[in-house]
Amino acid sequence: MAVHDPIAAAGVRLVEVDGSATEPVAHARYDAWAGVFDKAQLHDLGRSDAWSPDNLRELGHATTHRTVSLAAVTEDDKVVGAAKITLPLRENLHLSVLELAVLPGWRRRGIGSALLAEAEEITRTHGRTTVLVETDWNVDDPAGDVHGEWAGRRGFAPAQIMFMSVYDVRTAPVLEPFTPTGYAIETHLGVPPDADTTDRAYLARRMSTDAPFGETDWREEDWDEERVHELDAKLTAIGRGRVHAFARDLASGCLVGFTEVQVPAEAPHLAYQQDTLVLREHRGHRLGLALKVAAAALLRRAYPDVETVRTWNAVENEHMLAINEAMGYAPVAYTREWQKRL
Ligand SMILES: CC(C)(COP(=O)(O)OP(=O)(O)OC[C@H]1O[C@@H](n2cnc3c(N)ncnc32)[C@H](O)[C@@H]1OP(=O)(O)O)[C@@H](O)C(=O)NCCC(=O)NCCS
Repeated sequence: MAVHDPIAAAGVRLVEVDGSATEPVAHARYDAWAGVFDKAQLHDLGRSDAWSPDNLRELGHATTHRTVSLAAVTEDDKVVGAAKITLPLRENLHLSVLELAVLPGWRRRGIGSALLAEAEEITRTHGRTTVLVETDWNVDDPAGDVHGEWAGRRGFAPAQIMFMSVYDVRTAPVLEPFTPTGYAIETHLGVPPDADTTDRAYLARRMSTDAPFGETDWREEDWDEERVHELDAKLTAIGRGRVHAFARDLASGCLVGFTEVQVPAEAPHLAYQQDTLVLREHRGHRLGLALKVAAAALLRRAYPDVETVRTWNAVENEHMLAINEAMGYAPVAYTREWQKRL
């Protein structure tokens, strides 16, 4: 791989790391590469959402996407910067989704810029035209979006802002589950029943068009049963706890809404509120709140160790935010999507 002059002067080089490597040095380097995201987030935000190295190994490659992982490595083989480039393979073939972090003690030496330049080169090599990257900052941080300012100076345009909200299971009000007339609310732990896979694929497809994506050039995802099964298998392989609630339309028998909460095996006190969707033609019946209340009730029973749940919502997504507020979620941080056309 090409060495970038500014960081070569600092004794740092960029290398590609590979999650499938079994040779001990390469294996340890991948672990250290994953650790950069974790350490950078802990430093910048006081908490981390970074995935464990083994989770990244499992999730890095699928029929839906491939990833290219770049490490900035010092002369004594310490990994001080990391970039992860995700290339969707089934749709959004114009996109490259970038994650980028430099260890706090190694910033302002050109390492981030070198990783970005290499990531953009890889993006071009794969025939992609658009790079997406996220920055995060706490709502009470007077410095604001400093990493976003860095991205802005490198040609990225702000494309969307999201709230990161936290729900404290120990203090939030316990809302009574309810079922809107004409529907059934069904909950499941783990992988949902196979009979619902076709409906789940349709809901996942609609999620990729009906959630607000701001100015990001994110286009419809191509979901089918096979893709749902592949994701289920990967989440099972990494031991993710899963709580689903589905809304079934009693007239048609079809699923018309869903919500999912996941509990990482490595962090049993923490859960993630994932996608929630009610199909357009079924909105206005309080199904969104019914789904979330049902999932929260099952989460409490099945995962009593969970203390907090995190979620991200577009700031313009007023209906979802209103439901979250009713549940007891409070915004603690912003995430901004940045987009650059190469
Ligand atoms: C954003 C981030 C990746 C930048 O990494 P970095 O290695 O500090 O990046 P660079 O050194 O290339 O650029 C940082 C600044 O240092 C300056 N700089 C570069 N080399 C320098 C040197 N030798 N001496 C002093 N300053 C230098 C750059 O000009 C740049 O200035 P700017 O802030 O005015 O644009 C890093 O802060 C980080 O990990 N943030 C948290 C994760 C994140 O937000 N990722 C998304 C990024 S879009």
